[in-house]
Amino acid sequence: MEIGIDKIGFYTPEVFIDMEKLAEARGVEPAKYTIGIGQEKMAVAPLSQDAVSMAANAALEVLDDEDKEAIDFVLLGTESGVDHSKSGAVWVHHLAGIQKYARSVELKQACYSATAAITMAMGHISLHPDRKVLVLGTDIAKYGLNTGGEPTQGAGAVAIVLSANPRILALDADSVSMSEDISDFWRPLHSDYALVDGKFSNQAYLNFLTDVWGEYKQRTHRDLSDFEALCFHVPYTKMGKKALKALTEQASEEDTARLMGYYEPSISYNKAVGNIYTGSLYLSLLSLLEQGPELPENARIGLFSYGSGAVGEFFSGKVKPGYKSHMMKEAHESLLSNRRELTIEEYEAILQQSLPKDGTDVALDFEETSTGSVVLKGVQDNIRQYGIK
Ligand code: HMG
Repeated sequence: MEIGIDKIGFYTPEVFIDMEKLAEARGVEPAKYTIGIGQEKMAVAPLSQDAVSMAANAALEVLDDEDKEAIDFVLLGTESGVDHSKSGAVWVHHLAGIQKYARSVELKQACYSATAAITMAMGHISLHPDRKVLVLGTDIAKYGLNTGGEPTQGAGAVAIVLSANPRILALDADSVSMSEDISDFWRPLHSDYALVDGKFSNQAYLNFLTDVWGEYKQRTHRDLSDFEALCFHVPYTKMGKKALKALTEQASEEDTARLMGYYEPSISYNKAVGNIYTGSLYLSLLSLLEQGPELPENARIGLFSYGSGAVGEFFSGKVKPGYKSHMMKEAHESLLSNRRELTIEEYEAILQQSLPKDGTDVALDFEETSTGSVVLKGVQDNIRQYGIK
């Protein structure tokens, strides 16, 4: 029985900044951000869009009544959780209107957790082939103003419906993962901003990639010639290029040309959004499937997931014939093109806003700041108030 991705949706807030303008404001050569980092635009989350509302918006884009009846497991991966106890998945389960006999759980391991959720979903569906699982990767990447990580921020969510006999990507069950306790990137409980050892994080990412890829090759006896395209976790698009270069260093000209040929379509959405942590790999996959040419029937795609701290995984799947007709290309293009550009002053003000930390009630001005159908309307008696706009 094949198990894999049956649907994939995406949401990003309605406002962004232009990376050349951010570079000018920081006194940096614009080419450093657009070429050196590889980002054109960066999504910014107003207070009325948090990890829960973004995930709910991504889910609502793809779920139909049949999905809402068949889903009995909601797994939400995030490192931007909004409560120490209650999982964001419970809110999304409710906001998306999923039938009540379902499990709802939140998972955490930096940018990696949505991949763990996918593995769990595959196990669940193999035991219950008539059920579906909703996996969400949702995050707001924040390093703070005037920091080294500032040009690699972003915000957004990806929603994936996994099922038996999927219509988009049938996943192979022979992935290879690895864990190692390192301090390349983390966010202490007291901080709204992530801390990072930038250069070390890049190196750690590449070390994990080459290590799990080497082990994957040994275990599966596959090599680059078995892959039509590769997708990576994309904290910024230049990192995707570094990853591709690392894997193709000793590859044949033919393999290198083919794999490099898919790089631009696979980073098109990431370039316009920035890092969305848990969803970044899946945003790249979405970008490849929607913005790339139709892949040959049963073409295999390799995927590398990395979450600082750190866990990495290399896995793969084969595209299903006719997958293009199940993508939502026009909707995603208009989501990105209908956003409003913020001035750098507006962005700086939004980035420094946070909800009261002393439990004070707050009502948010969501009409002004959000086009998403689900918004965080405020906090009352320490309880977050979500609503459909
Ligand atoms: P930096 O020190 O500002 O930048 O940090 P740099 O000096 O290394 O320059 C970046 C690139 O721009 C270099 O290219 C320069 O040559 C180039 P590279 O050597 O890398 O190929 N450059 C220019 N190019 C064209 N024209 C110019 C120009 N000037 C310079 N004029 C860094 C960059 C990414 C380290 C920083 O932004 C950062 O710390 N970001 C956050 C950490 C990060 O994203 N790490 C990625 C790997 S870890 C990961 O992916 C996990 C993560 O997603 C978190 C999670 O798991 O939850 C982050």
